[in-house]
Amino acid sequence: MIRDPDIDLAPLQGRTVAIIGFGNQGRAQALNLRESGVAVRVGLREGSPGIADAQSAGLAVMAPAEAAAEADLVMLLAPDEHLAEVYDRIEPALVGGAALGFSHGLAIHFGLIKPRPDLDVIMIAPKGPGSALRSLYQAGRGMVALAAVAQNPSGGAWPLALAYASAIGCGRAGIIASTFEEECVADLFNEQAVVWGGVPALLQAGFETLVAAGYKPEVAYLECVSELKLLAELIEARGIAGMAEAISNTAELGALLGGGRMVDEAAQRRMQTILHEIKAGDFARALGEEAAADYPRLRHARARARTSALEAARQQLLGGR
Ligand SMILES: NC(=O)c1ccc[n+]([C@@H]2O[C@H](COP(=O)([O-])OP(=O)(O)OC[C@H]3O[C@@H](n4cnc5c(N)ncnc54)[C@H](OP(=O)(O)O)[C@@H]3O)[C@@H](O)[C@H]2O)c1
Repeated sequence: MIRDPDIDLAPLQGRTVAIIGFGNQGRAQALNLRESGVAVRVGLREGSPGIADAQSAGLAVMAPAEAAAEADLVMLLAPDEHLAEVYDRIEPALVGGAALGFSHGLAIHFGLIKPRPDLDVIMIAPKGPGSALRSLYQAGRGMVALAAVAQNPSGGAWPLALAYASAIGCGRAGIIASTFEEECVADLFNEQAVVWGGVPALLQAGFETLVAAGYKPEVAYLECVSELKLLAELIEARGIAGMAEAISNTAELGALLGGGRMVDEAAQRRMQTILHEIKAGDFARALGEEAAADYPRLRHARARARTSALEAARQQLLGGR
């Protein structure tokens, strides 16, 4: 872990950073940088709803190519599937020897973008959403990040990546030296097989099993979904071993007997299949195809989730709040 006392902020001093995109990460990183004393400008396309938001935060906003022109570091913080198009638009404006930055390895690792050879290419990937990156920074804390270098013609790409990570607050928590490949594959694997894919699918299946057996949807929701927050807090505070010790003997024995049956060798083989597909580039291709078709699968899944029995149970519990 590399932390603030080991990081030299000089590579960013007197430099200008252009943040392209003012969404989840763009907003948080731009505001944190500014409060760390870095000169920031935001690049957004015409008509973007983010323009008013960035301007009301007191940031200079311009078209992406204009923001990139003369910037020393240009961070591409639009959705991954649009980064190639964004890069093509700004590339002619990039000054020789500038640096290009990412917060996820996908576009570089899977070759969606082939940056000009004179550019330094770095990654600073905070391990969590932009909203948390911002709130932690405001609370004087930080979020762990992975950092990496893909191109280093200047010889100064790594110290620049560390200075940037520190300026967005990640040096307070710790920075791990990584690669675009490692960050990208591990991140996609977690999203699909573990926290963001596996866990919600397990909660949904548990809810449906109890409801199908005649139990009230509100009770099924409380048991199978609401308790996840308690589990996450316990694991965060005490680790998995400490969590198991903190719960009742009834829950601990039940978890021991049931957990191994739910996630058995067959489940681990499916995880290996997902990992293999990610590494082969299947997911990167699927993401591109989904975007090109205007997100049919995402639209369908969002509509179905909004009208699901599980969501109805949640609304019932909220009582219209
Ligand atoms: N979300 C996270 O929690 C998270 C965590 C770690 C790393 N990352 C990485 O951070 C990067 C940004 O992700 P994000 O979730 O922050 O993205 P996001 O919130 O979806 O980004 C939205 C922003 O990108 C702009 N944008 C979209 N398409 C554009 C285009 N074609 N040209 C110019 N601007 C465009 C949007 O402008 P308009 O309003 O004009 O559409 C908006 O300002 C990705 O590489 C992602 O993998 C994200």
